Amino acid sequence: MSASTRDPILEVHGLVKHFPLTQGILFKRQTGAVRAVDGVSFALYPGETLGIVGESGCGKSTVARLMVNLEHPTAGSIRYKGEDLAGLSRRALKAVRRNIQMVFQDPYTSLNPRMTVGDIIGEPFEIHPEVAPKGDRRRRVRELLDVVGLNPEYINRYPHQFSGGQRQRIGIARGLALNPEIIVADEPVSALDVSVQAQVINLMENLQDRFGLSYMVIAHDLSIVRHISDRVGVMYLGKIVETGTDEEIYDHPTHPYTQALLSAVPVADPEVTHRRERIILEGDVPSPADPPSGCRFRTRCWKARERCAREEPPLATPEPLRGAHGPVTHPSACHFAEEKQHVAHD
Ligand SMILES: Nc1ncnc2c1ncn2[C@@H]1O[C@H](COP(=O)(O)OP(=O)(O)O)[C@@H](O)[C@H]1O
Ligand code: SF4
Ligand SMILES: [Mg+2]
Repeated sequence: MSASTRDPILEVHGLVKHFPLTQGILFKRQTGAVRAVDGVSFALYPGETLGIVGESGCGKSTVARLMVNLEHPTAGSIRYKGEDLAGLSRRALKAVRRNIQMVFQDPYTSLNPRMTVGDIIGEPFEIHPEVAPKGDRRRRVRELLDVVGLNPEYINRYPHQFSGGQRQRIGIARGLALNPEIIVADEPVSALDVSVQAQVINLMENLQDRFGLSYMVIAHDLSIVRHISDRVGVMYLGKIVETGTDEEIYDHPTHPYTQALLSAVPVADPEVTHRRERIILEGDVPSPADPPSGCRFRTRCWKARERCAREEPPLATPEPLRGAHGPVTHPSACHFAEEKQHVAHD
């Protein structure tokens, strides 16, 4: 079944998160705002993986934290199975939150070093006793260790006795404890050695099949997300600039930012490396407290023209292609969106 024929499990519309900038110690006054997330919309369908990619500082973690209620939106809505979370009672919201769990980026700092893995994985049962196993919680924890490929006998060990990859498995087991439907994974393998990354991604894919999970997977590296995503959203400075199926994004990118990110992905085939044009992204992401006018990417875009400073490009099908069908008709927030050949890896 294609994603569009089903109802989304999660739908985000016009999501905004601004962090106020204040001055003064005794009398604080707001002098501006960090516009970390500035109008983001997307849908997540049952059983699929949505990848969110973009450089550091683009607002990816803030989106993730908004999804799991670690941050509250400044504006916009989050709907779970059609229901706006803002309209739910505390109790109903708690039940929804149980179904949306997060796996964090850094397995070295996200696990409490003074807790045993048994206590870490079982902690969600303390927070949600209403769904904790009735009898032996430790039996359920052993089961979870087994599910993520760790020896259940390790239940009394501490995080420092595990490798990075094993720690991320512990983080995943914790995320699974309450049988969620959705896992939001914020750079789940970024802190791991390349050799271990594939193992953890494989584990996540197996778990997805086994438990019918929907994933939102965040990464700054496009190559990681490619292996696991059905659809991809590319984020730049608080906004999604291009979105489509993995084939649309990787083989037919139309936004200059996506094209630049893809051209930086190493390719195994020297023939392809030779053929393709390399686009070097110069400079850093501008401050989200003072984003450029018009198109936010214009200060780093090789195609920028006068119109780009004046007019913000909407995330929509590129103008000349409206009404058409094909691999380049997916939404792209660029006035001059066009496919660029030889940037995608094979
Ligand atoms: N609690 C906060 N207070 C102020 N600024 C924040 C806070 N959290 C994130 N930011 C800022 O928001 C922007 C986006 O951050 P983040 O969501 O972590 O991006 P990413 O995960 O893509 O690297 C950054 O400029 C960051 O400094
Ligand atoms: S709108 Fe202009 S600045 Fe923005 S990505 Fe397109 S060409 Fe570049
Ligand atoms: Mg982040």
